[in-house]
Amino acid sequence: MRRWIVGAVAAALLLTGCGAPKSAAVLAEESASVSEPAEVSTVEETSMVTFSDEQIHKGNLILVNSEYAYDFDANGDADLVRIVDAQKYPYKVSKEEFRLCSEIMPALDNMIRDCDEAMGTQYTSVSSAWRSKEYQENVWDEYAELYGESYSQKYVAVPGHSEHHTGLAADLGIIYGDGSEGTFSESENAKWMAANSYRYGFVRRYAEDKIDITGISNEAWHFRYVGQPHAAYMHEHNLCLEEYLEMLKADTSPSNPLRVEYGGKEYSVYYTADKEIPEPSGDYTVSGDNMGGYIITEG
Ligand code: DAL
Ligand code: ZN
Repeated sequence: MRRWIVGAVAAALLLTGCGAPKSAAVLAEESASVSEPAEVSTVEETSMVTFSDEQIHKGNLILVNSEYAYDFDANGDADLVRIVDAQKYPYKVSKEEFRLCSEIMPALDNMIRDCDEAMGTQYTSVSSAWRSKEYQENVWDEYAELYGESYSQKYVAVPGHSEHHTGLAADLGIIYGDGSEGTFSESENAKWMAANSYRYGFVRRYAEDKIDITGISNEAWHFRYVGQPHAAYMHEHNLCLEEYLEMLKADTSPSNPLRVEYGGKEYSVYYTADKEIPEPSGDYTVSGDNMGGYIITEG
């Protein structure tokens, strides 16, 4: 006689991103319904994972742009660290108080170190990092006063809508061997970063050919962490974050994932708007898209 055990496991997931909990706290709740007595020939169990509404607004893949504001409430416990305290490679940081999400610090350190080693005597610096809403308001006002509002809109996100609020974005600068500061976009470091940042999980977020989509002008200096393998796929297929998330939503599901090979590993990436899905069998991470769904990355 066949007996079915239906196990419902609600798990608080391993989230990725600055506002995400550090470890997976597992809330297990099992219910068993036994319809037939004793002899068991087959036992099948289905574990499910559940997502909260708040999780939609947290994680490395959240889209923050003119349409989708950063959710400060959902990310209230964002795990920010001062760059000067966390950095393992001594690049210059314009202001001591600049902070970033701690999770991305090793990737940033490695990226800047490798770039500087490749460049010789042209050193990459960090000229902007996490910004509060008030900080962004000051940036906005300053630009508007200096250059006028229509110019500002091309380079400065409306306060509340800046990727800098996430702690996952950094602006880079350039310092030459004689100590003079230059224009990053004109430097060889900018070219190196554009070509290589994906290896570290960063994307050059605002490119010339994506202005119509991002609404922001070409910014050679602004890098956003999304993590591997997403950065690698976006780089290879020349997709900005808006396009990548749209593609995942349109073309993927738990039963039809995007397969990405990177760094000798295979990943399955898919979108779901469901609040409950069968739990993946191996390692996985979850990020909201900040629009209404979740991106699961298995591998
Ligand atoms: N410069 C980018 C668009 C920002 O202000 O967030
Ligand atoms: Zn920026």
